[in-house]
Amino acid sequence: MKALVLAGGHGTRLRPITNTSAKQLVPIANKPVLFYGLEALRDAGVREAGVIVGDTAAEVRAAVGDGSRFGLHVTYIPQHAPLGLAHCVLIARDFLGDDDFVVYLGDNFIVDGIAEFVGDFRRSRPDAGILLTKVPDPSGFGVAELDPAGRVVGVAEKPEHPVSDLAIVGVYLFTPRVHEAVRALTPSARGELEITDALRLLIDQGADVRSHVISGYWKDTGRVEDMLECNRMVLETAEHRLAGRVCGDTKVIGRVVVEEGAEVSRSHLVGPLVIGAGARVRDSYVGPFTSIGADCRLSDTEIEYSIVMERSVIRGVRRIQDSLVGKDVTVAPAEYAPKAHRLVLGDHSRVHLDR
Ligand code: DAU
Repeated sequence: MKALVLAGGHGTRLRPITNTSAKQLVPIANKPVLFYGLEALRDAGVREAGVIVGDTAAEVRAAVGDGSRFGLHVTYIPQHAPLGLAHCVLIARDFLGDDDFVVYLGDNFIVDGIAEFVGDFRRSRPDAGILLTKVPDPSGFGVAELDPAGRVVGVAEKPEHPVSDLAIVGVYLFTPRVHEAVRALTPSARGELEITDALRLLIDQGADVRSHVISGYWKDTGRVEDMLECNRMVLETAEHRLAGRVCGDTKVIGRVVVEEGAEVSRSHLVGPLVIGAGARVRDSYVGPFTSIGADCRLSDTEIEYSIVMERSVIRGVRRIQDSLVGKDVTVAPAEYAPKAHRLVLGDHSRVHLDR
């Protein structure tokens, strides 16, 4: 069984972070979301993974390397434009050969992994398998319709009127039979070769398409709210570990992770939270569900329920929350005090100011 990991695409809903970074590399509890997926594949017994890369290829390659640290052998497959999930399967044809394979969307996060789903597929070997979960509003996802035996009898991509509450989670299992279906596709209304269309074609041909409904936590981390929520979920399971230096003048409540080389002084930490390697925090409050990236500098600041990426500096700012701060960012009060805001913001930034 091989894996096809999708780490291309544009990530427009996470702009401006994704203007310079791959959306699959945005950190959850200081680890790129893509890494959780690669670990889940390894834990499901996969050893060979093709990784689809687009504009952010260099960054993804630098982060993932040859895959050996995840126990995988990685082959990169460049995609010149994000032409759809089924397009990824089409261009990976040589890599996939005649093996069964799992397609894993690089921005999806599944807490319980995929070992059970992959194990079931290996044993019963239907033509295809999809992972589903119940969601309150499935219209933003692929949606599946099942017969009473749990077989998939219909699928639709982001339907206006969903026929069920079962959203398609970003993990699919295929036998080589899917290649013929993929070759027969034409672009959808949004100009993409849709994997849901390939599934529908298989169903119409009478193929055996099974489903596995997960009850555990799943998130498509495409939006800021989803990233923050995912970060919260992972931090909930973090174990207390103070590897860095926490000075005696700091109050620590709850489960807190302070990584190697980090230093915290005259501060108040209320977990669960993580402070990355080499970070410095002083005279600050860091509250629950917050990830502070490696080598950040925080002083005289209050922050909670947020993600701050590597090397950013935040000083003299009272209560930041529900925020995603990119790499090498500086947030600080103006040096003079006119009643005005002075901003240097990237394209597509969003700032919510105190009135
Ligand atoms: O997250 C689950 C949903 O993922 C499913 O419910 C939908 O049926 C499925 O179509 C997909 O919808 P999205 O609109 O969320 O897909 P997105 O465009 O965000 O792409 C998913 C991942 O695949 C993302 O990491 C980027 C990557 N990708 C996407 C496209 C279209 C590529 O590498 N190449 C591409 O051409």
